[in-house]
Amino acid sequence: MTTLRLPGRVDAHVHSREPGYTHKEDFYSGTAAALAGGVTVVLDMPNTIPPTATPERLAEKARLAAAKAVCDVGLFVGATTTYADAYLPVATQACAVKIYVSDTFGSLRIDTLSLLHQLFRTWAETAQGTGYRTHDRAGGLGPITVHAEDLMLSACLALADLYHVPLHIAHVSRRSEIELIRKAKEHGINVTCEVTPHHLFLSTDDLGRLGNLGDMRPRLGTPDDVAALWENLAYVDIFATDHAPHTLQEKGVGAAEAPANPPPGVPGVETMLPLLLTAVHQGRLTLQDIVGRCINNPRRIYGLPEQPETWVDVDVDASFVLTNKQLLTRVGWSPFAGMNLVGRIQEVVLRGVRVYGDGQILAEPGSGRVLFVQPE
Ligand code: DOR
Ligand code: ZN
Repeated sequence: MTTLRLPGRVDAHVHSREPGYTHKEDFYSGTAAALAGGVTVVLDMPNTIPPTATPERLAEKARLAAAKAVCDVGLFVGATTTYADAYLPVATQACAVKIYVSDTFGSLRIDTLSLLHQLFRTWAETAQGTGYRTHDRAGGLGPITVHAEDLMLSACLALADLYHVPLHIAHVSRRSEIELIRKAKEHGINVTCEVTPHHLFLSTDDLGRLGNLGDMRPRLGTPDDVAALWENLAYVDIFATDHAPHTLQEKGVGAAEAPANPPPGVPGVETMLPLLLTAVHQGRLTLQDIVGRCINNPRRIYGLPEQPETWVDVDVDASFVLTNKQLLTRVGWSPFAGMNLVGRIQEVVLRGVRVYGDGQILAEPGSGRVLFVQPE
């Protein structure tokens, strides 16, 4: 057994599902799954019911997270067609704004240039007023984070360039997209990006086996898309999971009749570290690749505070078969179930307190902190 001590990891893309979808996950089950995955900060997405699109909704979500979370939580605000930029008065209390420009789950969708343009303009104006620096959050704003696939990616890059707003591209999945981001970075545009484990370790070749359990947005790429992500790893700033739990029933598993519109998305917050450590074991990644993309870069991009006396101990020699039974996510399944993995999380310590060990959550609900939000 070889124990390796890592700093607490960040998962910068998690759908905790509360409020509105707590049959899929809530702030307790989602953050418990995070700790089991060696994650001590999750950044929570705004496509809940109701969406986190106004100051009142952000305050409500902060209360829910503060009551239940067992790791730290940053909250995204989201743009809706109805409320557009209603979040601006509390923009500094969000880790960032998330704009869904491409097809997704839930009601948040912005697909007209006029609205997209408005959102970039008002975020830039607010940032000028607050003097944003994403690496120094004192009173500043986070980046604009977008789900923008294909042609929509170029629209977002152009707007970020024109308005000098830091832009973060969520879950990049295609060769064309990572190559365009690479070009944009070389050109000096202030853009960063993330890739999920499912887009790194699965492809369209797995769809026959996975069925609806392999359906998410962006969809799985071809083996050539996957190869392009690995070839361009130097341009990938963050590994984040897009932990997007839906129940097996909603996915149509075991159902007599296939559901008409199964929701897209897969859980992942507790399986990313063993998957990445397995890639280290295979010589495809280095530990430094993980530390940069799961700790240092997300902290810098979102301006996250340090977590003192916080670490994750992993047994890098432990090999095991991933089973659904061992998972803490409420939905209890993973698209990676059945895989042989090397690297088991033994213990997590958050601010000097042992919060996970021997497969058990030891933290009290509400011991996690909600980042950036000012107490009322
Ligand atoms: O597959 C996805 N599911 N992609 C998204 O962007 C949203 C997510 C969800 O919330 O279920
Ligand atoms: Zn997502």
